[in-house]
Amino acid sequence: MLRFHRLSTTHLVIAAPDSARTEIATALAAIDAESIPVAINAAAGAEALKADLTLVDLRGDPRMGLALCVHFKSIPALRLVPLLAITEDNAAARATALDAGADDAMSGSGAPFARELQSRVRSHLRVRAQLSRLDDATQVIYALANAVEAKDVYTEGHTERVGQLSALIGRHAGLDADAQDALAKGGVLHDIGKIGIPNALLNKRGVLTAKERIVMNKHPIIGERICEPLRSIRDLCPMIRSHHERLDGSGYPDGLRGDAFPLSAQILQLADIFDAITTDRPYHRARTRQGAVEFMLGEARKGWRDAELVKVCARAAEELGLGRTREEDIPPPPAPIGSWRWE
Ligand SMILES: [Fe+2]
Ligand SMILES: [Fe+2]
Repeated sequence: MLRFHRLSTTHLVIAAPDSARTEIATALAAIDAESIPVAINAAAGAEALKADLTLVDLRGDPRMGLALCVHFKSIPALRLVPLLAITEDNAAARATALDAGADDAMSGSGAPFARELQSRVRSHLRVRAQLSRLDDATQVIYALANAVEAKDVYTEGHTERVGQLSALIGRHAGLDADAQDALAKGGVLHDIGKIGIPNALLNKRGVLTAKERIVMNKHPIIGERICEPLRSIRDLCPMIRSHHERLDGSGYPDGLRGDAFPLSAQILQLADIFDAITTDRPYHRARTRQGAVEFMLGEARKGWRDAELVKVCARAAEELGLGRTREEDIPPPPAPIGSWRWE
Protein backbone atom coordinates (compact mmCIF):
# COMPACT_ATOMS: atom_id res chain seq x y z
CA MET A 1 0.00 0.00 0.00
CA LEU A 2 1.30 3.46 -0.88
CA ARG A 3 1.76 5.81 2.03
CA PHE A 4 2.57 9.46 1.95
CA HIS A 5 5.29 10.62 4.28
CA ARG A 6 5.99 14.16 5.27
CA LEU A 7 9.32 15.01 3.74
CA SER A 8 10.60 16.89 6.77
CA THR A 9 9.44 18.09 10.16
CA THR A 10 8.91 21.77 10.78
CA HIS A 11 10.86 23.00 13.82
CA LEU A 12 9.91 25.90 16.05
CA VAL A 13 12.71 27.02 18.36
CA ILE A 14 11.24 28.74 21.42
CA ALA A 15 13.66 30.84 23.48
CA ALA A 16 11.83 31.74 26.66
CA PRO A 17 12.19 31.61 30.45
CA ASP A 18 11.10 28.27 31.99
CA SER A 19 7.89 29.83 33.30
CA ALA A 20 6.69 30.94 29.86
CA ARG A 21 7.74 27.97 27.73
CA THR A 22 4.79 25.79 28.69
CA GLU A 23 2.33 28.58 27.92
CA ILE A 24 3.85 29.15 24.48
CA ALA A 25 4.25 25.45 23.67
CA THR A 26 0.61 24.84 24.62
CA ALA A 27 -0.53 27.72 22.43
CA LEU A 28 1.42 26.21 19.53
CA ALA A 29 0.27 22.62 20.05
CA ALA A 30 -2.28 23.10 17.27
CA ILE A 31 0.53 23.81 14.76
CA ASP A 32 1.85 20.81 12.86
CA ALA A 33 5.42 21.33 14.01
CA GLU A 34 7.91 20.20 16.62
CA SER A 35 8.71 22.71 19.36
CA ILE A 36 12.30 22.93 20.61
CA PRO A 37 12.43 24.88 23.88
CA VAL A 38 15.73 26.61 24.66
CA ALA A 39 16.99 28.91 27.39
CA ILE A 40 17.69 32.54 26.55
CA ASN A 41 21.47 32.38 26.45
CA ALA A 42 24.35 32.36 23.98
CA ALA A 43 24.07 28.58 23.44
CA ALA A 44 20.61 29.07 21.89
CA GLY A 45 22.26 29.92 18.55
CA ALA A 46 23.24 26.29 17.92
CA GLU A 47 19.68 25.02 18.48
CA ALA A 48 18.27 27.84 16.36
CA LEU A 49 20.12 26.49 13.31
CA LYS A 50 17.49 23.73 13.16
CA ALA A 51 14.63 26.22 13.14
CA ASP A 52 12.05 27.00 10.50
CA LEU A 53 10.88 29.74 12.82
CA THR A 54 12.39 31.18 16.00
CA LEU A 55 10.39 32.70 18.79
CA VAL A 56 11.98 34.88 21.50
CA ASP A 57 10.13 35.86 24.66
CA LEU A 58 11.13 39.39 25.70
CA ARG A 59 8.66 39.79 28.56
CA GLY A 60 10.16 40.78 31.92
CA ASP A 61 13.82 41.79 31.55
CA PRO A 62 14.33 41.86 27.76
CA ARG A 63 18.09 42.46 27.63
CA MET A 64 19.29 38.89 27.06
CA GLY A 65 16.42 38.24 24.64
CA LEU A 66 17.21 41.34 22.59
CA ALA A 67 20.88 40.30 22.41
CA LEU A 68 19.67 36.91 21.19
CA CYS A 69 17.59 38.55 18.43
CA VAL A 70 20.67 40.45 17.24
CA HIS A 71 22.74 37.25 17.44
CA PHE A 72 20.22 35.16 15.47
CA LYS A 73 20.08 37.65 12.63
CA SER A 74 23.88 37.88 12.49
CA ILE A 75 24.03 34.19 11.56
CA PRO A 76 23.79 33.99 7.72
CA ALA A 77 21.85 30.68 7.85
CA LEU A 78 19.18 32.34 10.02
CA ARG A 79 18.66 35.56 8.05
CA LEU A 80 15.71 34.09 6.15
CA VAL A 81 14.30 32.21 9.15
CA PRO A 82 11.40 34.23 10.58
CA LEU A 83 12.00 35.58 14.08
CA LEU A 84 8.90 36.37 16.11
CA ALA A 85 9.24 38.27 19.40
CA ILE A 86 6.73 38.21 22.23
CA THR A 87 6.94 41.45 24.18
CA GLU A 88 5.31 43.40 27.00
CA ASP A 89 2.01 44.88 25.91
CA ASN A 90 3.15 48.27 24.67
CA ALA A 91 4.17 49.79 21.36
CA ALA A 92 7.67 50.81 22.53
CA ALA A 93 8.54 47.22 23.53
CA ARG A 94 7.37 45.91 20.14
CA ALA A 95 9.34 48.58 18.28
CA THR A 96 12.51 47.76 20.27
CA ALA A 97 12.13 44.08 19.34
CA LEU A 98 11.78 44.91 15.64
CA ASP A 99 14.81 47.20 15.81
CA ALA A 100 16.84 44.34 17.32
CA GLY A 101 16.14 42.21 14.25
CA ALA A 102 12.81 40.51 15.00
CA ASP A 103 10.69 40.15 11.86
CA ASP A 104 7.50 40.48 13.85
CA ALA A 105 6.52 41.36 17.43
CA MET A 106 3.31 40.72 19.34
CA SER A 107 1.92 40.86 22.85
CA GLY A 108 -1.21 39.91 24.76
CA SER A 109 -2.48 37.28 27.15
CA GLY A 110 -4.94 34.44 27.57
CA ALA A 111 -6.95 32.76 24.82
CA PRO A 112 -6.88 35.69 22.34
CA PHE A 113 -3.08 35.76 22.61
CA ALA A 114 -2.83 32.01 21.94
CA ARG A 115 -5.15 32.34 18.93
CA GLU A 116 -3.18 35.23 17.44
CA LEU A 117 0.16 33.52 18.11
CA GLN A 118 -0.96 30.45 16.15
CA SER A 119 -2.09 32.56 13.19
CA ARG A 120 1.10 34.57 13.10
CA VAL A 121 3.29 31.47 13.29
CA ARG A 122 1.30 29.85 10.45
CA SER A 123 1.60 32.99 8.37
CA HIS A 124 5.39 33.19 8.84
CA LEU A 125 5.77 29.49 8.07
CA ARG A 126 3.92 29.98 4.77
CA VAL A 127 6.38 32.71 3.71
CA ARG A 128 9.27 30.58 4.93
CA ALA A 129 8.11 27.68 2.73
CA GLN A 130 8.01 29.97 -0.31
CA LEU A 131 11.51 31.25 0.46
CA SER A 132 12.80 27.68 0.78
CA ARG A 133 11.49 26.90 -2.67
CA LEU A 134 13.28 29.96 -4.04
CA ASP A 135 16.42 28.68 -2.33
CA ASP A 136 15.97 25.34 -4.09
CA ALA A 137 15.75 27.10 -7.46
CA THR A 138 19.02 28.89 -6.71
CA GLN A 139 20.64 25.57 -5.85
CA VAL A 140 19.64 24.29 -9.30
CA ILE A 141 21.53 27.17 -10.90
CA TYR A 142 24.64 26.33 -8.89
CA ALA A 143 24.32 22.70 -9.92
CA LEU A 144 24.15 23.93 -13.50
CA ALA A 145 27.37 25.90 -12.97
CA ASN A 146 29.06 22.70 -11.84
CA ALA A 147 27.74 20.93 -14.92
CA VAL A 148 29.32 23.63 -17.10
CA GLU A 149 32.64 23.13 -15.40
CA ALA A 150 32.39 19.40 -16.03
CA LYS A 151 31.88 20.09 -19.78
CA ASP A 152 35.28 21.74 -19.93
CA VAL A 153 37.77 19.09 -18.83
CA TYR A 154 40.66 21.50 -18.39
CA THR A 155 39.16 23.96 -15.98
CA GLU A 156 38.52 21.89 -12.85
CA GLY A 157 38.10 24.05 -9.78
CA HIS A 158 38.31 27.21 -11.92
CA THR A 159 35.00 28.80 -10.87
CA GLU A 160 35.58 28.13 -7.18
CA ARG A 161 39.03 29.74 -7.33
CA VAL A 162 37.71 32.71 -9.32
CA GLY A 163 35.03 33.26 -6.66
CA GLN A 164 37.52 33.07 -3.84
CA LEU A 165 40.04 35.37 -5.52
CA SER A 166 37.35 37.89 -6.60
CA ALA A 167 36.00 38.14 -3.06
CA LEU A 168 39.46 38.85 -1.64
CA ILE A 169 40.22 41.44 -4.34
CA GLY A 170 36.89 43.03 -3.42
CA ARG A 171 37.88 43.12 0.24
CA HIS A 172 41.23 44.75 -0.50
CA ALA A 173 39.50 47.21 -2.83
CA GLY A 174 37.36 48.28 0.14
CA LEU A 175 34.05 46.71 -0.89
CA ASP A 176 31.60 45.77 1.88
CA ALA A 177 30.76 42.23 3.00
CA ASP A 178 27.66 41.96 0.76
CA ALA A 179 29.65 42.98 -2.33
CA GLN A 180 32.37 40.45 -1.43
CA ASP A 181 29.71 37.76 -1.07
CA ALA A 182 28.28 38.70 -4.48
CA LEU A 183 31.77 38.41 -6.00
CA ALA A 184 32.22 34.93 -4.51
CA LYS A 185 28.89 33.84 -6.05
CA GLY A 186 29.57 35.65 -9.33
CA GLY A 187 32.88 33.80 -9.58
CA VAL A 188 31.10 30.49 -9.43
CA LEU A 189 28.39 31.52 -11.90
CA HIS A 190 30.28 33.75 -14.36
CA ASP A 191 30.56 31.20 -17.17
CA ILE A 192 27.21 29.50 -16.67
CA GLY A 193 26.24 30.66 -20.19
CA LYS A 194 28.72 28.11 -21.57
CA ILE A 195 25.98 25.56 -21.07
CA GLY A 196 24.75 26.86 -24.44
CA ILE A 197 28.14 26.50 -26.19
CA PRO A 198 29.02 23.24 -28.02
CA ASN A 199 31.60 21.03 -26.28
CA ALA A 200 33.74 20.88 -29.43
CA LEU A 201 34.26 24.63 -29.16
CA LEU A 202 34.89 24.70 -25.43
CA ASN A 203 37.57 22.04 -25.68
CA LYS A 204 39.10 23.09 -28.98
CA ARG A 205 42.88 23.10 -28.95
CA GLY A 206 44.17 26.26 -30.53
CA VAL A 207 42.74 29.48 -31.88
CA LEU A 208 39.01 29.82 -32.59
CA THR A 209 37.92 30.79 -36.10
CA ALA A 210 35.97 34.03 -36.55
CA LYS A 211 32.68 32.11 -36.73
CA GLU A 212 33.50 30.07 -33.64
CA ARG A 213 34.43 33.26 -31.81
CA ILE A 214 30.98 34.71 -32.52
CA VAL A 215 29.34 31.65 -30.96
CA MET A 216 31.69 31.61 -27.96
CA ASN A 217 31.18 35.32 -27.30
CA LYS A 218 27.49 34.74 -26.68
CA HIS A 219 28.11 33.02 -23.35
CA PRO A 220 27.89 36.16 -21.15
CA ILE A 221 24.45 36.98 -22.55
CA ILE A 222 23.23 33.39 -22.26
CA GLY A 223 24.47 33.39 -18.64
CA GLU A 224 22.57 36.58 -17.87
CA ARG A 225 19.38 35.08 -19.32
CA ILE A 226 19.73 32.00 -17.12
CA CYS A 227 20.15 34.00 -13.91
CA GLU A 228 17.75 36.88 -14.66
CA PRO A 229 14.50 35.14 -13.61
CA LEU A 230 15.79 34.35 -10.12
CA ARG A 231 15.49 37.24 -7.75
CA SER A 232 18.10 35.84 -5.34
CA ILE A 233 20.88 35.95 -7.95
CA ARG A 234 19.57 38.69 -10.24
CA ASP A 235 22.03 41.16 -8.70
CA LEU A 236 24.88 39.13 -10.16
CA CYS A 237 23.71 39.65 -13.76
CA PRO A 238 25.81 42.77 -14.54
CA MET A 239 28.89 40.85 -13.39
CA ILE A 240 28.02 37.85 -15.54
CA ARG A 241 27.14 39.89 -18.63
CA SER A 242 30.17 42.19 -18.47
CA HIS A 243 33.05 39.92 -17.48
CA HIS A 244 34.61 40.17 -20.98
CA GLU A 245 34.44 43.94 -21.43
CA ARG A 246 37.57 46.11 -21.68
CA LEU A 247 38.04 49.59 -20.24
CA ASP A 248 38.80 51.05 -23.70
CA GLY A 249 35.49 49.78 -25.09
CA SER A 250 36.97 46.98 -27.21
CA GLY A 251 35.46 44.11 -25.19
CA TYR A 252 32.19 42.24 -25.57
CA PRO A 253 29.20 41.95 -25.57
CA ASP A 254 28.43 45.68 -25.13
CA GLY A 255 31.73 47.48 -25.73
CA LEU A 256 31.39 49.24 -22.35
CA ARG A 257 33.96 51.96 -21.77
CA GLY A 258 35.49 53.38 -18.55
CA ASP A 259 33.09 53.79 -15.64
CA ALA A 260 30.32 52.04 -17.57
CA PHE A 261 32.26 48.80 -17.00
CA PRO A 262 31.05 47.82 -13.49
CA LEU A 263 33.79 47.52 -10.85
CA SER A 264 32.46 44.12 -9.73
CA ALA A 265 32.79 42.82 -13.31
CA GLN A 266 36.33 44.26 -13.58
CA ILE A 267 37.34 42.45 -10.38
CA LEU A 268 35.75 39.19 -11.50
CA GLN A 269 37.48 39.50 -14.86
CA LEU A 270 40.95 39.94 -13.35
CA ALA A 271 40.42 36.89 -11.13
CA ASP A 272 39.18 34.96 -14.18
CA ILE A 273 42.18 35.91 -16.35
CA PHE A 274 44.64 35.27 -13.52
CA ASP A 275 43.29 31.77 -13.01
CA ALA A 276 43.09 31.02 -16.74
CA ILE A 277 46.71 31.91 -17.42
CA THR A 278 48.23 30.36 -14.31
CA THR A 279 46.56 26.95 -14.76
CA ASP A 280 47.37 24.25 -17.29
CA ARG A 281 45.25 24.37 -20.44
CA PRO A 282 45.59 22.49 -23.72
CA TYR A 283 46.10 25.65 -25.77
CA HIS A 284 48.70 27.58 -23.79
CA ARG A 285 51.48 27.02 -21.31
CA ALA A 286 50.67 28.20 -17.80
CA ARG A 287 52.49 31.24 -16.47
CA THR A 288 53.90 31.77 -13.00
CA ARG A 289 52.08 34.12 -10.64
CA GLN A 290 54.60 36.86 -11.36
CA GLY A 291 54.40 36.16 -15.11
CA ALA A 292 50.61 36.44 -14.98
CA VAL A 293 50.74 39.76 -13.15
CA GLU A 294 53.23 41.18 -15.66
CA PHE A 295 51.03 39.98 -18.52
CA MET A 296 47.97 41.65 -16.98
CA LEU A 297 49.90 44.87 -16.36
CA GLY A 298 50.77 44.77 -20.06
CA GLU A 299 47.07 44.58 -20.86
CA ALA A 300 46.48 47.51 -18.49
CA ARG A 301 49.00 49.53 -20.53
CA LYS A 302 46.98 48.73 -23.65
CA GLY A 303 44.01 50.38 -21.90
CA TRP A 304 42.06 47.18 -21.30
CA ARG A 305 42.39 46.77 -17.52
CA ASP A 306 42.97 48.94 -14.45
CA ALA A 307 46.64 48.70 -13.38
CA GLU A 308 45.88 49.50 -9.72
CA LEU A 309 43.28 46.75 -9.62
CA VAL A 310 45.77 44.33 -11.22
CA LYS A 311 48.14 45.07 -8.31
CA VAL A 312 45.35 44.37 -5.81
CA CYS A 313 44.69 41.10 -7.67
CA ALA A 314 48.40 40.21 -7.39
CA ARG A 315 48.34 40.79 -3.64
CA ALA A 316 45.17 38.73 -3.16
CA ALA A 317 46.53 35.86 -5.31
CA GLU A 318 49.70 35.81 -3.26
CA GLU A 319 47.74 35.69 -0.01
CA LEU A 320 45.71 32.77 -1.31
CA GLY A 321 48.81 31.02 -2.61
CA LEU A 322 47.37 30.82 -6.14
CA GLY A 323 49.65 30.23 -9.13
CA ARG A 324 53.09 28.63 -9.22
CA THR A 325 56.11 30.66 -8.23
CA ARG A 326 58.80 28.67 -10.11
CA GLU A 327 58.99 28.38 -13.89
CA GLU A 328 60.48 24.87 -13.64
CA ASP A 329 57.34 23.54 -11.90
CA ILE A 330 55.17 24.23 -14.94
CA PRO A 331 54.63 21.25 -17.26
CA PRO A 332 54.49 21.69 -21.07
CA PRO A 333 50.96 21.77 -22.52
CA PRO A 334 49.60 18.52 -24.03
CA ALA A 335 49.24 20.10 -27.48
CA PRO A 336 51.34 22.57 -29.53
CA ILE A 337 51.10 25.97 -27.93
CA GLY A 338 48.51 28.29 -29.44
CA SER A 339 47.89 31.86 -28.41
CA TRP A 340 46.40 32.09 -24.95
CA ARG A 341 42.67 31.91 -24.80
CA TRP A 342 40.26 32.96 -22.17
CA GLU A 343 36.53 32.79 -22.30
FE1 LIG B 1 36.24 31.77 -16.58
FE1 LIG C 1 33.63 33.90 -19.66
